[in-house]
Amino acid sequence: MTRKPLREVRLGAISPGVNSTTVWSDHRAGSQIDFSSFVHLAKTAESAKFDFFFLAEGLRVREKNGLIYDLDVVGRPDTLPILAALAAVTENIGLIGTINATFNEPYEVARQFATLDHLTAGRAGWNVVTSSDAFTGANFRRGGFLPYEERYERAAEMLEVARALWDSWPDDAIVADGADGRFWSRPDIGSFAHSGKHFDVQGQFSVPASPQGYPVILQAGDAEAGRDFGGSYADGIFTMVRNLDDARKYYREVKARKVAIGGAPDDLLILPGATFALGDTTEEAHQNAAVIRRQQVSGATAIGYIEEVWNRDLSAYDPDGPLPAIEPALDADSIIQGKTRLTRDPVALIDEWRHLAETKNLSIRDLVVEVSAKQDFIGTPAEVAEQINHRVQTEAADGFILIPHLTPTGLDEFAAKVVPELQERGVFRTEYTGTTLRENLGLPAAPQRPWPSDHLSTQFPTTA
Ligand SMILES: Cc1cc2nc3c(=O)[nH]c(=O)nc-3n(C[C@H](O)[C@H](O)[C@H](O)COP(=O)(O)O)c2cc1C
Repeated sequence: MTRKPLREVRLGAISPGVNSTTVWSDHRAGSQIDFSSFVHLAKTAESAKFDFFFLAEGLRVREKNGLIYDLDVVGRPDTLPILAALAAVTENIGLIGTINATFNEPYEVARQFATLDHLTAGRAGWNVVTSSDAFTGANFRRGGFLPYEERYERAAEMLEVARALWDSWPDDAIVADGADGRFWSRPDIGSFAHSGKHFDVQGQFSVPASPQGYPVILQAGDAEAGRDFGGSYADGIFTMVRNLDDARKYYREVKARKVAIGGAPDDLLILPGATFALGDTTEEAHQNAAVIRRQQVSGATAIGYIEEVWNRDLSAYDPDGPLPAIEPALDADSIIQGKTRLTRDPVALIDEWRHLAETKNLSIRDLVVEVSAKQDFIGTPAEVAEQINHRVQTEAADGFILIPHLTPTGLDEFAAKVVPELQERGVFRTEYTGTTLRENLGLPAAPQRPWPSDHLSTQFPTTA
């Protein structure tokens, strides 16, 4: 009997600057802004042979009742300059940045990623988000925020335009024949034209074809529209689906979307975000996890968390006391400006929380610790390696985007102790084998990749 070959684990690391798992108050926490912090994280991931280093993005700092929300750690530095700077101090690791498809223009984004792909010799990736940051529009000339479906429509059309731009320079565009006095092979290099619902552009793209052709495309978003979009257009999906059964179902469903458009299941990587807590013994790891969770959920964080669901100012409540006995404000504007309401049914959720709090005798803070800030992988390095490996071998994920809780040292222990365990199991590389991010991720080269152009051309008629 032949055994199925082991599937390789993919690993990325996110800089934890802008998300709720970040513990900035720990005495070991360093700057979230200094370049040295980004360098430390990226280099740690690279020396452990991770596939990529990843940055999230927000275009505005969130507000509560019109004031900056003081749990939105550290502001939002611009993704692309950070990645461009990291290009100079890394050699092999992929550099993936989140860039919003709701507010940017395809020409500028295509140009920035083509440039990053050149600077990194083929290690660039774009995580396309539609963003839930509703008030970001005020920062832009266009203003406003698009309705949900239209955000995905715009994102799809934006990618279509970007692809046309990336394709607009043939590989043999530059001949640089000094004897003949001829630099270009053709006079129309970079010409593009697109006319659709969201974009009507034509002109000339200014960056030669980059090493990967197109950057690796990731997509982050969990709902149906996001699944369709990601399944059709992306090389990888960044998801927060956590529970094992849900993860397997999600994995099958989204891969089926890729197959339906003529791709292979492995052309789309499912990469859930994952947090972890390590210890020398199982018991110590669980103790560490409990400490991290309480660090992640301070009293103020707990109140902020439930305020988003109640949509009310609950600052007068004691985080160590019981859940508020009042009803949520359903029709009022969102209390957290800058974020669309993500809780689809607050009444049902509050009912569920009340039941949980009563059954387990939980305070507000206990409850928030219980329902958020979970450590996905807890154990000794060998146990965590096995948990990760199990999820990959049983098709719940192709790998993970790790979210350390500390900047900049949050990845050190994982890199030093868990990665060798994965390598021993024969499921993680010991050396980079390719030169581009696509090669290292086992993705097909961009031009061969099936692209849903028929689907797009009916949805967004183009004029070439
Ligand atoms: C794992 C994950 C990461 C995300 N990262 C970002 C981000 O960095 N910046 C951003 O503006 N939105 C981010 N989003 C928000 C999505 O772009 C999207 O607005 C949100 O998930 C709601 O859409 P959905 O219902 O399709 O998931 C992220 C979402 C998920 C699930």
